[in-house]
Amino acid sequence: MPTVHIAPVPGMRGSLRVPSDKSLTHRALMLAGVSDRVVRIEDALDSADTAATAAAVAACGVPMEGDLGRGAIVVSGRGLRGLRPPAAIDCMNAGTLMRLLPGLLVGQGPGRVVLDGDESLRLRPMARIAAPLAAMGAPISTAPGGTPPVVVEGGAALRAMEHRLSVASAQVKSCILLAGLFADGETWVSEPVPSRDHTERLLEAAGVAVLRASGAVGVRGPATGLSLPDVRIPADISSAAPHLVAAALLADPEVRLTGVNLNPGRTGLLGVMERMGAAVRIEPADDVAGEPCGTIVVTRAERLTGTEVAPEEVPSMIDELPLVALLGAMAHGATTVRGAQELRVKESDRIATVVGALRALGVRADEREDGFTVHGEGRIAGGAMASGGDHRLSMFGAVAGLLSTDGVSVRDFEAVAVSYPGFAADLASLGAVAPPAA
Ligand code: S3P
Repeated sequence: MPTVHIAPVPGMRGSLRVPSDKSLTHRALMLAGVSDRVVRIEDALDSADTAATAAAVAACGVPMEGDLGRGAIVVSGRGLRGLRPPAAIDCMNAGTLMRLLPGLLVGQGPGRVVLDGDESLRLRPMARIAAPLAAMGAPISTAPGGTPPVVVEGGAALRAMEHRLSVASAQVKSCILLAGLFADGETWVSEPVPSRDHTERLLEAAGVAVLRASGAVGVRGPATGLSLPDVRIPADISSAAPHLVAAALLADPEVRLTGVNLNPGRTGLLGVMERMGAAVRIEPADDVAGEPCGTIVVTRAERLTGTEVAPEEVPSMIDELPLVALLGAMAHGATTVRGAQELRVKESDRIATVVGALRALGVRADEREDGFTVHGEGRIAGGAMASGGDHRLSMFGAVAGLLSTDGVSVRDFEAVAVSYPGFAADLASLGAVAPPAA
């Protein structure tokens, strides 16, 4: 598997529109598929993960024209109960697909669907969606350890009910809300800390009354139909994040990330960066897809200091925590993340993989059951690490390389294509800024 070497650079500058939001693209494709109309999705993310979702929706008998990417894909919605699912769906590496789609499949006509995925997805917990759907009366099962394949059947009458999640999860919340559209009565979900609300925003745009009361969110079923308007997908803050973190120490004079989705459930990294001493500024722009958007401008910080990330902050930066570890390495003093057990069941065990990679690159770091501590000394020596097939770790390695003294080799770097196929080219476009002439 290809190894990529990333050499240190003296600086970065320029402006970039990173790829479109992965969470929103998955949701827009699925909701378009069950809409009563033809939905045009502009700027859908073109990546391995979202291609899996487009293929899954198409395999459910939904005609599509055009392509993912910076044009448009036109989805001829079949109506809320109009999917014709195949016997098997390959979710590849896409947890969002495997966790959200069953919420729609349980509301379709009789028929059994087996959802499976790649080696990494096969390790991920699916009981968290199977248990609530089963409690609502849906025929659904997983492998004995609660892992894929997920086997789900349509055609059953669903009971509306209240669900209390023990862990904040937008994927689980979304799955339950989607199933709630087919249930008889009000289905509610409450979480210990609110997670990203993209599904709620898109459902409202599609004409569904989303109920909110004291921290819980709900829908009233059975819904008659759903009419998602045409939608444009803004840039993904999780794909902007690696550039932001590199720029915090390398911007010369500044790096601008334009058109980024600034949903408050996603922006936790920006607060942490500021707390550590990074210079981050937002230039607000018009909402896109019902989401607040803007340009993030980063200038170079002379010195970062370590910080503590508290459990209640974790959901708003769940996919950026590996990058917080890198900031911690480049900072002075300890950076501790707590309450982030969820990292253990992501595309890799991101507590183990991040701490292992940091140590391999000459940074002192300790694993905790629910997070990590990085002992920052303002430097990353460099060395070799593996992505472990985890796209976020590929990007972590590349940013580590730019910031390092000796460069970083990342084995299995190509995993990056799960969310950001053009990452290396974009990073290069922000470029190494030549050191000032002596
Ligand atoms: C996502 C939610 C998060 C996140 C994942 C995408 C989503 O997962 O880590 O990359 O699109 O809803 P959880 O819902 O498991 O926290």
